[in-house]
Amino acid sequence: KRPVGAPDKSLARKVTKVGIIGAGLMASQFALLFVRKLQVPVLITDLDQARVDKGVAHIHEEIGKLEAKGRLDGDAANRLRALIHGTTDKSAYADCDFVIEAVFEEVGVKQQVFGEIEKFIAEDAILATNTSSLSVEEIGAKLAHPERLVGFHFFNPVAVMPLIEIVKTPSTTDAALSTAFVVARGLGKNAVLTADAPGFVVNRLLAKVMGEAARAVYEGTPLLTVEKAFAPLGLPMSPFQLIDLVGWKVAAHVQDTMATAFPDRFYASENFHQLAELDQVVEKDKGGRVTGWTKSAEKVLKGAVGT
Ligand code: 3HC
Repeated sequence: KRPVGAPDKSLARKVTKVGIIGAGLMASQFALLFVRKLQVPVLITDLDQARVDKGVAHIHEEIGKLEAKGRLDGDAANRLRALIHGTTDKSAYADCDFVIEAVFEEVGVKQQVFGEIEKFIAEDAILATNTSSLSVEEIGAKLAHPERLVGFHFFNPVAVMPLIEIVKTPSTTDAALSTAFVVARGLGKNAVLTADAPGFVVNRLLAKVMGEAARAVYEGTPLLTVEKAFAPLGLPMSPFQLIDLVGWKVAAHVQDTMATAFPDRFYASENFHQLAELDQVVEKDKGGRVTGWTKSAEKVLKGAVGT
């Protein structure tokens, strides 16, 4: 059955090579998913060779883990490794059909990387942004062909979460949209079409949960009490586990985007900053990814709620 809002799939561009802009954690997760599911060559790029090499090494490591778990045999693992190419040479993107960015969550940065890539790619190649809450239309505003841009928003962990939010702007063509739906299906994900509104749908909901949880702590309820109060809702992760999973800085950024767009409905991330214990742990990881934060917080706050 065709997802709501998806154009006819015959309009989709056939994707034989994928480009990923960025070689960080999120980009590496995309690259692995693309090679595993689409079995097409995937290019990753970043600012310098060291970052590219680090990204490629990380992907190889993840492939090694799948091999060790018996999820891939040696041949399949080698085939996947051979499909991953890291480069700083943007001209290598010339024959990519679908190029997705996973760079810093700032409109200017995303506009700049797309501007650079657009010089090299085919006129009808599709561009996708993994922005989590920025305006897709604004990201595409400086493109020569903004009509080829779609929002393509993954969730953490990319390999597991079944959803992709596809976002269209007033100028997105049916071909770009159809390609996005076909790619999402190829990746084994369910895709939904959302309006190009701040936070789309999922982050709009999550920013409420995370923002209110942080606010409750700010107002004096101990953090672990908030976590415990949330547990009976039966969701797989508590608010602070989610903040930990997506990375404190990303969560705060989403929060601020929502608060700027809807100041009457969302708290800014200052409530996050006021969690002194969280800040201490975050300081240790400048990248903003704070693995095991909830565990650390539990240690810091032990006794505070009489657990
Ligand atoms: N990478 C790859 N695979 C992973 C993984 C990771 N980081 N974490 C877990 N998995 C896999 C495991 O290998 C396992 O696979 P298997 O069943 O084939 O062996 C499967 O997921 C389940 O893992 P576990 O049994 O170890 O753990 P749980 O049952 O506790 O599930 C979870 C872990 C899937 C992460 C679950 O807790 C969950 O669904 N949490 C909610 C996550 C969520 O809401 N994400 C959205 C965040 S918001 C976002 O990303 C938007 C952004 O814009 C901010």
